[in-house]
Amino acid sequence: MPAPLFADLVPAPPDAILGLAEAFRADSRPGKISLAAGIYQDETGHTPVLATVAEAERRILAAATPKTYRPIGGDPAFTGLVRALVFGADHPALATGRVEMLHAPGGTGALRVAADLVRRLSPGASAWLSRPTWPNHPQVFEAAGLPVRWYPYLAEDGAGLDLEAMLAALAEAAAGDVVVVHACCHNPTGTDLPAAGWERLAALVAEHGLLPLVDFAYQGFGDGLDEDAAGVRALAAGGGTVLVASSMSKNFAVYSERVGGLSIIGATRDQAAALASHARAAVRANYSNPPAHGGEIVATILGDPELRARWVDEVAVMRDRINGNRARFVAGLVAAGVAGSVTGGRGARLDADALLRQRGMFSLLGLSAEQVARLRDEFAVYVVTGGRINVAGLTAANLDPVCVAIATVIREG
Ligand code: LMR
Repeated sequence: MPAPLFADLVPAPPDAILGLAEAFRADSRPGKISLAAGIYQDETGHTPVLATVAEAERRILAAATPKTYRPIGGDPAFTGLVRALVFGADHPALATGRVEMLHAPGGTGALRVAADLVRRLSPGASAWLSRPTWPNHPQVFEAAGLPVRWYPYLAEDGAGLDLEAMLAALAEAAAGDVVVVHACCHNPTGTDLPAAGWERLAALVAEHGLLPLVDFAYQGFGDGLDEDAAGVRALAAGGGTVLVASSMSKNFAVYSERVGGLSIIGATRDQAAALASHARAAVRANYSNPPAHGGEIVATILGDPELRARWVDEVAVMRDRINGNRARFVAGLVAAGVAGSVTGGRGARLDADALLRQRGMFSLLGLSAEQVARLRDEFAVYVVTGGRINVAGLTAANLDPVCVAIATVIREG
């Protein structure tokens, strides 16, 4: 008799982010506070359904479009509108037909299709990730069979980007390797590449024959829909091959609908079309074709000038709240005595100016694993590894207890 299958199976570890959401749900302590998963919340602690999304859903329901399979790469109405959102309608790569787009199930789905595409075309390629990065990045690339390599990202004191160290590491990458960069609102650091950094990255990938893959999950949450796309657009204008994985989870607040897109910018129109055909083959073997509803919501909004204008305002409201929360959060840490204007060692004293420069949903405090565990165990405050705070989850009601808890673990840690 063979041994029973999976007899000694050890459970997989909980996910670094979504596992925290499960632990939070199971926590019965009153007053528990979740600042873990990157989900926008309003001042009442709820994640609103945007009014434009509700209106789009009313229209979709009324239209009662048959639920037949959609094209493998998604509905052309969706991909055309999202392409223009990402690159701007008059981008030269669009004008020359060098941009193909596929509708993917969320930003994660787009990343996985990109990883499958690379594995298919360059089986020996590695994926280079910033250290630190979103914890799911290494999982996605390893699951697709791409070994992961790391490039440094933050300066020693954690207070900003170390562009020289980043580029020096990437100069070691082999031709065909994938370089994963965050378009804006870097997750988890909130520290983005400046315009000059994008230029130097573009020169480096061209010189070494690397494939940039831009993760664009937070368009509109940093400085604006167009401002946040500046790096992506500059890279795409360079004339080389570029992949861009977009997510609409955050800027349309349609997290559960799984809406994203993979843009494929070819060196030529023909190369883009050939790459897209391989991406569609990867999709067909994976989930066949994308779920339609979320894409229909996005296409309905972007395709109607009046709805689109209202949505642009809704994104601005979310962005302004996040940026206001960041300022209130840093002021709270200053008041609690653990942040100031003087740059000091990470952990002992937080650099208030550096925290204020961070962009997007997250603030990275540089906390140790013990400090993060204390926040959860003693104060029922859930944050992600390294002390990544979802600043969109801060409210007038939880700001003080959060700052006091953080100050306590920093002072005593
Ligand atoms: C996050 O980083 O919290 C979000 O992108 C949610 C996720 O899927 O991890």
